[in-house]
Amino acid sequence: MLSQVLSASALVAAAQAVTFSVGSTGGNATSPYQYGLMFEDINNSGDGGVYAELIQNRAFQGNDIYPRTTAYWNPLGGASLALKNLSTPLSAALPTSMQVTTNGTGTTGFSNVGFWGFPVVAGWEYKGSFYVEGGLNGNLTVCLTSNDNVAYAEASVEVSSSSSWTQYNYTFSPTVSAPNSNNTLNFTFAASDLTGAVNFNLLSLFPPTYNNRPNGLRVDLMEAMGGLKPSFFRAPGGNNVEGLREPYWWNWTQTVGPVVDRPGFPGTWGYENTDGLGLIEYMLWAQDLNMDISLSVHAGYFLNGYSVPESEIGIYVQAALDELEFLTGDASTTWGAYRESLGYGPFVVNFVEV
Ligand SMILES: *[C@@H]1O[C@H](CO)[C@@H](O)[C@H](O)[C@H]1NC(C)=O
Ligand SMILES: *[C@@H]1O[C@H](CO)[C@@H](O)[C@H](O)[C@H]1NC(C)=O
Ligand SMILES: *[C@@H]1O[C@H](CO)[C@@H](O)[C@H](O)[C@H]1NC(C)=O
Ligand SMILES: *[C@@H]1O[C@H](CO)[C@@H](O)[C@H](O)[C@H]1NC(C)=O
Ligand SMILES: *[C@@H]1O[C@H](CO)[C@@H](O)[C@H](O)[C@H]1NC(C)=O
Ligand SMILES: *[C@@H]1O[C@H](CO)[C@@H](O)[C@H](O)[C@H]1NC(C)=O
Ligand SMILES: *[C@@H]1O[C@H](CO)[C@@H](O)[C@H](O)[C@H]1NC(C)=O
Ligand SMILES: *[C@@H]1O[C@H](CO)[C@@H](O)[C@H](O)[C@H]1NC(C)=O
Ligand SMILES: *[C@@H]1O[C@H](CO)[C@@H](O)[C@H](O)[C@H]1NC(C)=O
Repeated sequence: MLSQVLSASALVAAAQAVTFSVGSTGGNATSPYQYGLMFEDINNSGDGGVYAELIQNRAFQGNDIYPRTTAYWNPLGGASLALKNLSTPLSAALPTSMQVTTNGTGTTGFSNVGFWGFPVVAGWEYKGSFYVEGGLNGNLTVCLTSNDNVAYAEASVEVSSSSSWTQYNYTFSPTVSAPNSNNTLNFTFAASDLTGAVNFNLLSLFPPTYNNRPNGLRVDLMEAMGGLKPSFFRAPGGNNVEGLREPYWWNWTQTVGPVVDRPGFPGTWGYENTDGLGLIEYMLWAQDLNMDISLSVHAGYFLNGYSVPESEIGIYVQAALDELEFLTGDASTTWGAYRESLGYGPFVVNFVEV
């Protein structure tokens, strides 16, 4: 605080004593990394957020931290829903599927409540898919419907009974927008088309995605983030990188490749992560918004307070080196070749956060 009050004329004199000269050469360059984004999947900012998948609990993922459940799925028309570990699972990563049986006589099936409902936007082309196995032979209807039963969009999928898992795809496009997100996705079929039981897994529905990327990200959120002109992107965490306890750390190898081969991860913010938003998706997010990735890697510390002893830390150092080889290596490297096999050229990684 000033100990004396300066007179107005003294202030003017002081001001006149200061001159600035601004040069057009010399000086210091401003860092191009003044600000950016930091991300981890918290409060469903990933699953249910920027990751555009609309179905919640699409593949009955879980572990000994978050048990597998049929949560977010409801039976319709006398159906009964139960989790099964079939002797022929969809994949090693997704061993648990949902079995549907029914005593109903008319239309039967099940619905998903989404992440706080489903958005219904006129003109959007939605792309859906699911895997099915078992005794259903007939037309299955997938319908985006309001709770008061306005059918906004529907597709009919002809399913053949089969003892092996078969994937079906469908698309639909509503012509009218719903007034709110109070909508469900209903899967229905004639009870008479079912012999015994039918099993479903990896049921998926995507709205249009940013840059039309398959398994991509929400357009509105990507545009909002892009508008901030961020220069760097710290991902995938935070706490999620560390994990709740051994062996649950953000093991990148389980987040790449087809989603049918991703087991999911016990997120550190109270819910299972699908890992549909995986390492490649993070890199494309950075690339699409012109951000430099700041890749966070595991430091050998878990959130239950356990630190990996120095004698074992090499496993995590090697995992980080493999991750960098996967992202930046050329096709002559082991992990670079794997990335190429997934259809991606090398990425640029300038920053690593340990
Ligand atoms: C900033 O610019 C001054 C004057 O050119 C130079 O002496 C100094 O080394 C620069 N500092 C940095 C951090 O680049
Ligand atoms: C976000 O998640 C944290 C941790 O689970 C929780 O404490 C907080 O209430 C959540 N905030 C909102 C707005 O849901
Ligand atoms: C399926 O297997 C998982 C472990 O892979 C187990 O936790 C779960 O209880 C099993 N579920 C059923 C319905 O048998
Ligand atoms: C069908 O009826 C049988 C016999 O009453 C019963 O045991 C079974 O739980 C019922 N199944 C469903 C899906 O309601
Ligand atoms: C499914 O619907 C189509 C078109 O209505 C019809 O031609 C076909 O026979 C149906 N399939 C079965 C198995 O009922
Ligand atoms: C379903 O769509 C996916 C993604 O576009 C594609 O890889 C797959 O081959 C399609 N499956 C069928 C049965 O058309
Ligand atoms: C959503 O539907 C439920 C059940 O019909 C109703 O109680 C609730 O008020 C609706 N919410 C909105 C936002 O319309
Ligand atoms: C769709 O599913 C919801 C939620 O389970 C249910 O309230 C509604 O009646 C179903 N609509 C149709 C047409 O089956
Ligand atoms: C990461 O996951 C892969 C594939 O499941 C596994 O082989 C490897 O042991 C895991 N690494 C660590 C350090 O947990």
